[in-house]
This record gives sequence, structure tokens and C-alpha cells, in this order.
Amino acid sequence: MKVILPVDQPVHISARYVANAKPTEWTFTETENRQVINQKYENNDMSQPHVFDPKNIDVLEMEERKTWQNPEEILGTVEIKSDFVVADLGCGSGFFTVPLSQKVKKVYGIDVQKKMLDFLEQKIQKLKIKNIELLLSKKNEIPLENESVHLLVSMNTLHEFDDKERMIEEMRKVLKRGGKALIVDFKKENTGFGPPVAIRISKKQATKLFEKKGFTTLESQNLMYHYLLVFSKKNRK
Ligand SMILES: C[S@@+](CC[C@H](N)C(=O)[O-])C[C@H]1O[C@@H](n2cnc3c(N)ncnc32)[C@H](O)[C@@H]1O
Repeated sequence: MKVILPVDQPVHISARYVANAKPTEWTFTETENRQVINQKYENNDMSQPHVFDPKNIDVLEMEERKTWQNPEEILGTVEIKSDFVVADLGCGSGFFTVPLSQKVKKVYGIDVQKKMLDFLEQKIQKLKIKNIELLLSKKNEIPLENESVHLLVSMNTLHEFDDKERMIEEMRKVLKRGGKALIVDFKKENTGFGPPVAIRISKKQATKLFEKKGFTTLESQNLMYHYLLVFSKKNRK
């Protein structure tokens, strides 16, 4: 499937953001123009799952990211208590895991890619953080006990889940009664960078899926390039 981006739109972000979709790479930098990006898209098979390529991990780590996706501001949208046990699903390099660890008792950093966890392990050791446990997961499972976490965060990852309904069911399973899920993902529109629009899921679609799977929407916000949703687990009668 071919994806064509408009070539006449201004590049409205100076930051470099690179994400790779197997089997075909796509890259956006401030020096590249849209035509080059379109060439990179040419053989992109959108039916293939899209998982962030660890070789671009520096992009997740760049300081400039805090100007458009600030962990403190985002984490500030949900109640976080110091005795909380939290899961960061799709933790990647730990851009959110590390600031979270400073606010709570324990954080599980969960990812399907060992390379991401290896990177985060080094960061944890360097920063001498003791309350992050890293877990390598399988793509449709969350490796946690039922009702074991107060809060689950999943940042920029929903679009990568192969079977979104199944993953949302898993989230519900591992959350304690009344537990909350904080979800941030790319808007389903041309944001000039980020994963292919074709594989993104809109705020409306995401809300519908979570509500279908036993969550109540508490918060729904539009950020610059992303949306933010907070859900609470509905108690089944
Ligand atoms: C775009 S990165 C975002 C990383 C981090 N949350 C952040 O915002 O910086 C998405 C991450 O989700 C992971 N991932 C994809 N599917 C997953 C799944 N089913 N379970 C756990 N992690 C997953 C990828 O390996 C990748 O590290």
C-alpha cells in the first residue's frame, strides 16, 4: 500500500523524529523534504505490524521532546500516590518510566523488545534507581498478576499493538479495582513526523475501544501532536 504525504505542507517541527516500520524504513529530518519521505514510503506494507526500531532510540531520548511531550505535565493529568505500583506498557527507553519512578513505590517497565529494556537497564544503573523492574513481554500479553497495579501508562504505543482489543482486556485484568489507565498516542492526522497515519488510531476510536472493554473515560485532551486519555476500570457487577 502506498502512502503519499502532501509535499507542499510546511515542516512545522524542528526536532528529528525517526520511526521505522518493517520491512521498509521511513525517516523524517528537518533537512529532508516531503518528496524524499514519500520515496521512503513507497513500498511500505501497512498490513505489517509497526514496531519502533531500537536503532532510533536517540529520538525517544532527545531533550527537545520535552517541549511538545513533557512527562511532568502529562503525568500531572492523573492522580499518582507515593504508594502506587505502576506499569509503563511499551516503556521503550524509559522517557516516562524514570520520572514516574520518582513519584511512586514501584514501576514495571514493560516492553516487547529486549534492546529497549537493555538500554533502560543501563540508564537505571547509571541513575541508581531501585524501584523499576523491567519485564520482557509477549506482544499480546502483559506479564503481571491480575489486579496488581494502581495505574497503567502507555505512551505512544497504542498504535503498535497488534491486537488492540486484547491488549485493552489485558490492561483491565492487571489493574486493581478502580485503577486507571493513562494513554497518549499520535493524532490520526499528518503531524509531520511519527508513525504512518494509516496505522494510527484516532482519539475517538481509542475511546470507543476502551469503553467497549470495561473502562470509563475520565479525561480526553488534545495535545500538540498527540491526544491524551485517562480511563478508569469499571467494576463489573
Ligand atoms: C514509540 S515507542 C514509545 C516508547 C515510550 N513509551 C516513549 O513514549 O518514549 C513504543 C514502544 O512500545 C513497545 N511495544 C510495542 N508493542 C508492544 C506490546 N504489545 N507490549 C509491550 N510493548 C510494546 C515497542 O517495543 C517500543 O519500545
